[in-house]
Amino acid sequence: MLYYQTDNKDFILIHGDTMQELPRISERFDMIFADPPYFLSGGGKTIRGNRVVSVDKGDWDAVRTDEEKDEFNYKWLSACRSLLKDNGTIWVCGTFHNIYSVERCLNKLGYKFLNVITWQKEDPPPSLTGTRFNFSAEFIIWAAKSNSSKHYLNFDLMTKINGGKQMSDVWKFPSVGIWEKRCGKHPTQKPLHLLYRIILACTHEGDTILDPFAGSCTTGIAANLLGRKFVGIDQSKDFIDLGLRRRKEIDNPQIAEKMLRKMAETPDEIMVIVNHCRKELKTLMIEKGICYLRAGDSKGSLLVTPGFERLQYVLLHTSGEDCHLFRLKTKGHFQIWTKETLEKYGFSPEHASYYVVLHFDKQEIEFSKQPNLKQRINTYRAKIRPLSDFIGLN
Ligand SMILES: C[S@@+](CC[C@H](N)C(=O)[O-])C[C@H]1O[C@@H](n2cnc3c(N)ncnc32)[C@H](O)[C@@H]1O
Repeated sequence: MLYYQTDNKDFILIHGDTMQELPRISERFDMIFADPPYFLSGGGKTIRGNRVVSVDKGDWDAVRTDEEKDEFNYKWLSACRSLLKDNGTIWVCGTFHNIYSVERCLNKLGYKFLNVITWQKEDPPPSLTGTRFNFSAEFIIWAAKSNSSKHYLNFDLMTKINGGKQMSDVWKFPSVGIWEKRCGKHPTQKPLHLLYRIILACTHEGDTILDPFAGSCTTGIAANLLGRKFVGIDQSKDFIDLGLRRRKEIDNPQIAEKMLRKMAETPDEIMVIVNHCRKELKTLMIEKGICYLRAGDSKGSLLVTPGFERLQYVLLHTSGEDCHLFRLKTKGHFQIWTKETLEKYGFSPEHASYYVVLHFDKQEIEFSKQPNLKQRINTYRAKIRPLSDFIGLN
């Protein structure tokens, strides 16, 4: 049953059993993201904070036999395949509890395997008994509709996001953050960053995404923030309402901008040092492959914020204009030079005795998003910013 839709229909929520609702949908989708029941709620225990808590998520996640799991997964995966465009792709999450059943069903239905992503959580709960290794990973199968599908992967963007190195199928980032739970809690909420990466990997702006087990609508929030349309189904009114609150929250453009920025961040995000310099000085820096900044708290100095160790690029600009991006020769590496050493290299530093010096490759890096540096209050202050601020997303 249609529960809610935005005026422009870019966010549609259906309340009901996905098995009944999927066959009623007439639209076709560019991407499907499914975070189905893992069927792991069987009275087990885990540690959260310092407390021993139950792993039970709800009746919908109760343990089932292999036959029951196969029957369930086959049914919704079959309905989803009919709703997928010929070149569309599906992503299905799981752990060992359900993922082998999902794999069997995808195979039987004629989907084509593309990857199995291992999402390694950086903050897994400790083992209670010490009789097994910590459970720290979830798996996400990525599949195309059929062998003849010509699926889309924005490989270049993924490489860019990964700091110029090809992205592998092991993704490391933490579980959902507190900032993502401001509207309420879902027991198995996925982090927005996961959806951010997946959506950017295989869809274009304006594409439509289906989530047959929408929960708190993480997929829908990420989709809309990235200019994609969303249809979500969930059988729980409480979860649908939570999703709706999250969607209404991003109607506020300031919150939307903040969420988009936070969603793009990862703890291992590649960072860029953004440094203002006069035009002639910039030309000389580029010629020598050296960027220098005053250390300390004055005009033109370096504001050292967390992330320095992940520094891989230098962006030079003059009052927010004429930007040039270069890769550091060594990640997170800097030297302290005296004024005299800089003079030996042909520079004429005037304002301090010591400088922070970074060496970069002279080969300029292309970036597609014009950085908005002028509007920032401290144009003259060097800042460390994530690489995603400067590379286009499409
Ligand atoms: C693992 S959670 C999804 C969480 C979601 N990815 C998020 O970030 O919030 C699975 C969801 O599927 C819903 N669900 C389970 N079986 C369902 C069914 N047969 N039809 C519709 N929804 C179902 C549950 O209510 C639950 O919210």
